[in-house]
Amino acid sequence: MSKILVIGAGGQLGTELTKALADKYGKASVIATDFQASMSSKFDYCTFHTLNVMDKDSLASIVKIEGVTQIYHLAAILSALGEKNPVQAWDLNMGGLLNVLEVARDHKIEKVFWPSSIAVFGPNSDKDQTPQKAFKDPNTVYGISKLAGEHWCEYYFNKYGVDVRSLRYPGLIGYKSLPGGGTTDYAVDIYHKAVNGQKFTCFLSEDTYLPMMYMDDAIHATLQLMEAPKDHITIRTSYNLAGMSFSPKEMHQSLLVHYPNFEIVYQPDFRQQIADSWPNSIDDSVAKKDWKWQPQFDLKAMTATIVKHLPAFFN
Ligand code: SER
Repeated sequence: MSKILVIGAGGQLGTELTKALADKYGKASVIATDFQASMSSKFDYCTFHTLNVMDKDSLASIVKIEGVTQIYHLAAILSALGEKNPVQAWDLNMGGLLNVLEVARDHKIEKVFWPSSIAVFGPNSDKDQTPQKAFKDPNTVYGISKLAGEHWCEYYFNKYGVDVRSLRYPGLIGYKSLPGGGTTDYAVDIYHKAVNGQKFTCFLSEDTYLPMMYMDDAIHATLQLMEAPKDHITIRTSYNLAGMSFSPKEMHQSLLVHYPNFEIVYQPDFRQQIADSWPNSIDDSVAKKDWKWQPQFDLKAMTATIVKHLPAFFN
């Protein structure tokens, strides 16, 4: 039986991915961990341990005691928060990944998943339909740590045979969990304001296009990548992954269909510069070819789904 350890399970992605893993592989197969003990309340359906990924000995001990066969390492400091705490972001994002890769090597872990991001691209990368192998000059600590991390993943695969797989997620949008510290977070917050009848103040300008993805698509892509036969995985850094691209103005329009009086004001802050350095849209043809990836949700379908479910979920 697989034993799947999720690190950073209490975060935006972890909350939904851990549940999806339990649904797919069985509750007894999943071990959720988070550095905050209070997150245990989210995981009454599976085993939970408090774990700071910087503590390599505790990580190794959980892997040994629980007989872990796969690791999903999701803990990171995101782009906007990282700019406020650059050294801390580098330490956690790099140190955490290296601990996981080392433990995976020592304990012969079968598969590792680690998320990368559109943040690996920078101001001089292609802006539209950014290719898999585009030039990359990330200018956030988060982006630099993700780009370095991608190469560490490839290194551990080539040198030690650790089967580590990765996706460059776009901004992830769901209604079951909240993001924290990212530049794409506006696209989650906006739904909360709209369904609660409040005005939304957007920290990006109205025409800022960014690659985004509905959470169900992100979960689907992750499970599909991890299930793919090993010899289909031709990218050992991280796969480009695309869902949709839109601007805050287009998002506002999609919400006006459901809430005709919904108001938005634009007050761009330091996050505008981060967003401007990232692609408008992503070419994910390699993922489509290698493991038959296909997204299901566009902006209209995502908005209809979220406005239907969010009020009951959060109130
Ligand atoms: N969603 C992330 C961020 O905004 C990008 O990967 O930081």
